Amino acid sequence: MTTPDPLPIPRLTAPISGAVELPGSKSITNRALVCAALADGVSRLQNVLVSDDTEAMIHGITALGAEVTDEGDGHHSIRGIAGRPAPGPITVDARQSGTTSRFLAPVAALGIGEYTIDGADQLRARPFGDLVDALRSMGIDATATEGDRLPMHVVGARAVARRVSLRADVSSQFASGLLLAAPCLPWGLEIELVGDIVSQPYLDMTVAVMRAFGANVEADVGRYVVDGGGYHPREYRIEPDASTASYFFGLAAASGGRIDVRGLSTASLQGDVGFLGVLEEMGATIEETATSVRVSGPDSGLRGIDVNLADLSDTAPTLAAIAACAEGTTAVSGVGFIRNKESDRIAGPVRELVRLGIDATEEPDGFRIVGGDVDGGVVATYDDHRMAMAFTVLGLVKGGISIEHPDCVAKTFPDFFSTILGLATSSSTASESDPTPATSAARRVIAIDGPSGSGKSTVAKALADRLGLDYLDTGAMYRAVAFAALRYDVDPSDTDAVASMARTIDIDVSPKGVFVEGADCTVEIRGPEVTRAVSAIAANPEVRAELQARQREWATRKGGGVIEGRDIGSVVFPNARAKFFLTARSEVRAGRRAKEVTDLDYETVAADLVRRDTADSTREHNPLVMADDAVVIETSSLGIDAVVDHVVSQLPED
Ligand code: DC
Repeated sequence: MTTPDPLPIPRLTAPISGAVELPGSKSITNRALVCAALADGVSRLQNVLVSDDTEAMIHGITALGAEVTDEGDGHHSIRGIAGRPAPGPITVDARQSGTTSRFLAPVAALGIGEYTIDGADQLRARPFGDLVDALRSMGIDATATEGDRLPMHVVGARAVARRVSLRADVSSQFASGLLLAAPCLPWGLEIELVGDIVSQPYLDMTVAVMRAFGANVEADVGRYVVDGGGYHPREYRIEPDASTASYFFGLAAASGGRIDVRGLSTASLQGDVGFLGVLEEMGATIEETATSVRVSGPDSGLRGIDVNLADLSDTAPTLAAIAACAEGTTAVSGVGFIRNKESDRIAGPVRELVRLGIDATEEPDGFRIVGGDVDGGVVATYDDHRMAMAFTVLGLVKGGISIEHPDCVAKTFPDFFSTILGLATSSSTASESDPTPATSAARRVIAIDGPSGSGKSTVAKALADRLGLDYLDTGAMYRAVAFAALRYDVDPSDTDAVASMARTIDIDVSPKGVFVEGADCTVEIRGPEVTRAVSAIAANPEVRAELQARQREWATRKGGGVIEGRDIGSVVFPNARAKFFLTARSEVRAGRRAKEVTDLDYETVAADLVRRDTADSTREHNPLVMADDAVVIETSSLGIDAVVDHVVSQLPED
């Protein structure tokens, strides 16, 4: 195995500014997968986290009879088993995943025959005794190795008790597992928790996801009454991971910039959104819209605070990193237990900060850090993704830092570096009045521009297919904003109102279709109403700036691709790998459009085309202009394949 070199982190040359979409929460992903697997129909999950633990769950529910289809781009469809697992003998390999093993043992008990739950050595060392005891008390034949360890065996039995009491002072995952299975028992289940309950926020999360899938749960402190009505399928969007969001929020706060995390809310099911309160106390400003949370850092810098992080302990390394950038002392307490996480998260951050010249000391249950100058150097990450991500934030703010073993971020966020460094690069270049990200992703963009009916959509799609690249239709993004304006009664000519809507609205343009706030509008955005409204929308400079930022983010996320529009080569990606500008005679273009919109005659389409061409070419901001270095292709008498062949022949080496 080769060891990658330490990754140098460039210092920000301007305050960070931008918006990000982050992968889904692991905890919510695994709960939603179980509910969807038990439902009586096909569910569709969006923003599913792809990681080792969620793959373990997907394999587990598949072994029990659910059908899972990865539709790409974080979308998964799941055909549920209506509460009836495939008959045993079946073995579930939970790998390293605590939730997979602890959730699927009670789920297996809903089946018939024998089920074995096993996992990797690290998981075999973790306790299961309380779960075995609870299942046995319900009349289920459950056994574990030495009474407490994996592999464990469960013999499915349909007639079981209506009540169970369970210890929840070792892990809340046992209780979550019983809760998740409960709606599929014939009479439901009453669950009483005894002893001190650990991690109540995770139990609240379990109940919230169950309710989202139609379960009827009465929840009281330490007592749950679950009806036996089963689960119903649905579309469900998984919140971005709040622990991952902490690095982006921390960076905004410590650099005096601002970052929006889309899809997150302060009412999140995840305890780690509490980190927003910590940042606020340090001097940052938190704003929330219907679709995102924004953190802005103060120009004057953050101030140190005293804080107990017991309920949001995964954010301790993030706070250690930004405490080094704050004025004064930050004292963290309540987190003695994080010495046993992927690494010792008290000793590690303190040791690395001291090495960088910061005054930092360990406490039995936390640490004290005095903000100051950083000497720079290589930071050890102890094979801990959170160390790598937290010290990247410090590196971006202070400079001179390299991250050892950067690949450890793959545990929860393989695209971490491309996302955060892409944002940093585009912020720096934007502040130099050149809004173009000079990222390597930008250099892997193929820009296809041209007027309506020039054939650019068909060509761009076919080209992306042929080269195996991702494809983005930016016209659909402008159309989606126009659709949203009509849908939400925002006057398209009210530039401020449209701009503020564009900044907050969730738009998803992908080969699967176009979605606004999760609603499919693929067909509607091509209709005459939207087509009439879109020119005014596309002439709005603030809408353009927002959509162009999203287009650059898309390219960073995908590592490049084929992007079609009007200003892709000239404005959005002047550093694109290749630029093509398609044209065709106007009667040919009108003829092509008339074929697509069957309910309008040729004359109406031709008149509309002229109107839109004029609007697109004469608007003040980013009018349709050909990039100087674009290859022009006149498509009037060429078929698609001929145009694509021509484009491919003109591509420079990757
Ligand atoms: O390509 P289309 O017809 O779907 O584009 C819809 C509108 O959006 C059209 O009026 C031009 C505008 N547009 C733009 O101004 N810039 C882009 N990059 C893409 C489209």
